[in-house]
Amino acid sequence: MATTTLILLLPILFLLNPQAQAQAPAPSPSGPLDLTAILQKAGQYNTLIKLLKDTQQLTQIQSQLKSNSQGFTVFAPTDNAFQNLPSGALNGLSDDQKVQLILYHVTPKYYSLSDLTTVSNPVRTQAPWGLNFTGGQGNQVNVSSGAVETQINNALRQQFPLAVYQVDKVLWPVAFTKDAKSPSPAPAPKKGSKGTETTAAADASPSPSGESKNDSNGVAGKNVGFGMVVGFVFVCMSVFS
Ligand SMILES: *[C@@H]1O[C@H](CO)[C@@H](O)[C@H](O)[C@H]1NC(C)=O
Ligand SMILES: *[C@@H]1O[C@H](CO)[C@@H](O)[C@H](O)[C@H]1NC(C)=O
Ligand SMILES: *[C@@H]1O[C@H](CO)[C@@H](O)[C@H](O)[C@H]1NC(C)=O
Repeated sequence: MATTTLILLLPILFLLNPQAQAQAPAPSPSGPLDLTAILQKAGQYNTLIKLLKDTQQLTQIQSQLKSNSQGFTVFAPTDNAFQNLPSGALNGLSDDQKVQLILYHVTPKYYSLSDLTTVSNPVRTQAPWGLNFTGGQGNQVNVSSGAVETQINNALRQQFPLAVYQVDKVLWPVAFTKDAKSPSPAPAPKKGSKGTETTAAADASPSPSGESKNDSNGVAGKNVGFGMVVGFVFVCMSVFS
């Protein structure tokens, strides 16, 4: 009787964990990963490379890539994106803020483009603030900082443990728009698009629970779910052996 229940539960648990399912079989990377080389090869990322170096974050990310089992996702603003910032915006930042700006473009987890279309918002970054993602048709994804929204079109690299996506705008944190004197009309349009964002996220979300809005809960939930799957597999194996 217990065995029957387990057999019935297993496929359901797997269905509830599409991410765990997708990530579990991912093979370990081979060869060293070089973020600079990826950016240099793609061209048009000189400002970002310089910022990564100036803020010491390049070495941080490179060394964390070896230890973080979840991988990383980097949103790489083009040189054009930096040029299109209000004049003086970047230079107006303190050194700490420059570090935070860079960290805001990095998530401590690998996301494929299709992961991003269904991810629970807000997504945790290396900075104190999250990013929101909305998926459209196919693998079309928009990313929003609350102050800035842009479409993600181009993957420079999309292979665990490192994804690097081109963004045509710098993901400017809302926190900086309050501090800075830059004339940003940020908060107004956010409310307007909030409804559609929420709907899109709810439609796309595979999670049946209401907790999916909260990223930390969502991630924890998935990890617990995955743990349960592994647990059940082991129980089954011991039952059948
Ligand atoms: C993404 O943003 C563009 C405008 O930048 C908009 O036209 C498009 O509908 C948005 N897509 C999604 C999925 O929100
Ligand atoms: C993300 O969306 C939530 C509501 O869905 C909103 O409260 C939050 O301010 C948004 N954050 C960003 C960074 O856009
Ligand atoms: C998400 O959960 C964390 C702790 O579980 C909490 O600190 C945070 O305020 C929550 N955020 C939202 C948007 O509910």
